[in-house]
Amino acid sequence: MGTFKALRVFSENDKVSCRVVEVNLDELSAGEVVFKTAFSSVNYKDALAATGAGRIIRSFPRVGGIDATGTVESSFDPRFSPGDEVICTSYEFGVSHDGGFAQYCRVPADWVVPLPGGLTLHEAATLGVAGYTAGLAVELLELNGMAPVNGKVLVNGATGGVATLAIDVLAKLGYHVVAVTGKEAEHDFLKKLGAQEVLSRHKLEMGTRPLEKALWAAAFDSVGGEQLAWLTRTMQEGGLIASFGNAGGIEFKTTVLPFILRGVRLIGVNSGDTPMPLRRKIWGRLGADLKPRHLAEIARDITLGELPAYFEKMLKGQIRGRAVVKL
Ligand SMILES: NC(=O)c1ccc[n+]([C@@H]2O[C@H](COP(=O)([O-])OP(=O)(O)OC[C@H]3O[C@@H](n4cnc5c(N)ncnc54)[C@H](OP(=O)(O)O)[C@@H]3O)[C@@H](O)[C@H]2O)c1
Repeated sequence: MGTFKALRVFSENDKVSCRVVEVNLDELSAGEVVFKTAFSSVNYKDALAATGAGRIIRSFPRVGGIDATGTVESSFDPRFSPGDEVICTSYEFGVSHDGGFAQYCRVPADWVVPLPGGLTLHEAATLGVAGYTAGLAVELLELNGMAPVNGKVLVNGATGGVATLAIDVLAKLGYHVVAVTGKEAEHDFLKKLGAQEVLSRHKLEMGTRPLEKALWAAAFDSVGGEQLAWLTRTMQEGGLIASFGNAGGIEFKTTVLPFILRGVRLIGVNSGDTPMPLRRKIWGRLGADLKPRHLAEIARDITLGELPAYFEKMLKGQIRGRAVVKL
């Protein structure tokens, strides 16, 4: 194997930036499994990492990309053989270990998930960390009793990666989904994915009382900040909130009343360090009962070279759905 293309993140003159360069395998972080990358995808965390907008990467240069799918070239671990189709996401991938924005990846075998039945490599990359997070959130809320008969489910940051996939999955499972978006032009798209109602983020009347009218049985929160605070105040008795995002801020202010008077449960979702048995279970479900019905409409293919401009748009909240990087 000679050199191949990778998007590397550099820190030069105290400024973080990224560009496509040629690398060879010996330059990548060590690991037992080498796979030829088919696809990667773009997550909010990738945009934070590659632009320096968030202090995600601590040692440079680093190949970015927190998820990838591909075909095993070689493995020192008996669990994987050449030709196996695999997924690698999360852990330190694309953070302190070289990531998925490269034509080859070398990773610890413990991070590798065999491609489950029901998914192609392109579909698995369309899901990526975003789909995995949506699937994990559904699983955690179901464990706490989420069911379509309980009432409406709100999904905010609705045109984002995790949210579009969550809407698609929840609608398929029979939930009445209410989407909240800042993009007026995307209401029809969200309805096509399965949202029954679409609310404009800028027109939300949030009120200020510790408990407002009870509206939602469950909520999937990409945003944090004011919107998460509003959600706590507007959940029904026993309402369940999956908190996984901070696109609108990391702080939120509420009172204990939703928790002690309505039994609201705030459930944290961290896709990064899920134990492997649960990770495999969620990926299995994503190829079966949780497989979104509109992956092709949600995905848009881009190239490595298009990534820097895409990161900027993502940080400004100007994207829709998922960008899949064709390697
Ligand atoms: N916990 C985990 O394991 C985990 C895993 C994956 C992602 N995340 C987090 O989840 C969030 C969503 O990730 P993603 O990859 O889906 O990102 P994304 O594709 O960029 O989606 C974020 C969406 O949030 C909305 N938004 C953006 N800025 C906003 C603001 N200032 N106020 C309110 N809404 C805003 C936008 O949707 P609208 O224009 O439609 O409102 C945007 O499309 C991020 O915070 C990410 O870091 C966490």
